[in-house]
Amino acid sequence: MEELLHKDHLQKEDIVRLLSATGEEMRQLFARALEVKLQYLDNKVHLRGLIEYSNRCRKSCLYCGVRGPNDKVHRYTLTDEEVLDCARQAMELRYGSIAIQSGERSDKAFTDKITELVREIKRLSDGKLGITLSLGEQTEEVYRQWFEAGAHRYLLRIEASNEALYYKIHPHDDRHDFQRRLSCIDSLLKLGYQTGTGVMVGLPFQTVEDLADDLLFFRRKDVAMVGMGPFIPHQDTPLYAYADQIPSDEERLNMTLKMIAVLRLMLPEINMVAATADQTLDPMGREKAIMVGANVIMPNLTPTGHREDYLIYPDKACVGDKPEECQSCLDIRMHAIQHEILYDAWGDSLAFTKRHAPTVSD
Ligand code: 5AD
Ligand code: FES
Repeated sequence: MEELLHKDHLQKEDIVRLLSATGEEMRQLFARALEVKLQYLDNKVHLRGLIEYSNRCRKSCLYCGVRGPNDKVHRYTLTDEEVLDCARQAMELRYGSIAIQSGERSDKAFTDKITELVREIKRLSDGKLGITLSLGEQTEEVYRQWFEAGAHRYLLRIEASNEALYYKIHPHDDRHDFQRRLSCIDSLLKLGYQTGTGVMVGLPFQTVEDLADDLLFFRRKDVAMVGMGPFIPHQDTPLYAYADQIPSDEERLNMTLKMIAVLRLMLPEINMVAATADQTLDPMGREKAIMVGANVIMPNLTPTGHREDYLIYPDKACVGDKPEECQSCLDIRMHAIQHEILYDAWGDSLAFTKRHAPTVSD
């Protein structure tokens, strides 16, 4: 175990072994991952103020509570003024960066609206607010348009890097195409976005080998950011039928923590999110993720009236909290685990910054 925890280039069998650790070995893994994080990234935590722009969605992912066919959901789209207010609030709270997330839409009215909002947020913040987008699969042209408008980070989880598993958790049709999702990630990387991807942990049919392959996929793609959270069955979705076949809450959270820890050993300089879903399974879930290698938190800025309509999974944490309450709550929570929130900063991934820094040649 000691040897594995200090090994330079982990192979698949090493990763499977680490992900299978329990008890004392799991604690050793967590301790080593924290040590590596502190060495590379210090005890700093970056914030992204999350704006859940719209829950209208053309997709039907089999796990997601706001999937298009779920007619129990009250659909909304924030007005321009609501979005800009969120951005102003992010500035006031000194979050250096925001993330705009939405159900997937690809019509021109939507994509142009996003371009306009990104430009406007850049203008009102004097270029100071970093903007991350998480708006699903789009054409390269649209990704370029948004990048040129001022977005510099993009999150598109692959959800499951094993194609067979991907099609067990998505309908197999032209709206849910594994190869297209892969090529979207490639486009984002090519265009120069700090690109993030990720998976859900504890899905039905998912094996520890699948999870090891997910981590190898992140390394192969050389992404700047990763978001991984436990799968939480939602009763108005088809995958709920398998809710009794997945590992327990505790096991899914522990596996998520092990995924974060092992990835921190593999890619010490990337940004990794402590997902809100961690906190749904355990009141200390996000703190636990930070203590095993995560370094980003996404406090919610969505107007409280709309949050309950964005229940991707049930019992989402902080749904009733006002943004300013979230801020002081997070400050206290991070101090309690000897971490410090970095305000007024974009909080770029060190992995990305280094790769794109001008090289000195003589
Ligand atoms: N449980 C956990 N995470 C989920 N997501 C969607 N549905 C669920 C669920 N039931 C995640 C997906 C998506 C992100 C927005 O939320 O990974 O990319
Ligand atoms: Fe695909 Fe919500 S419908 S993640």
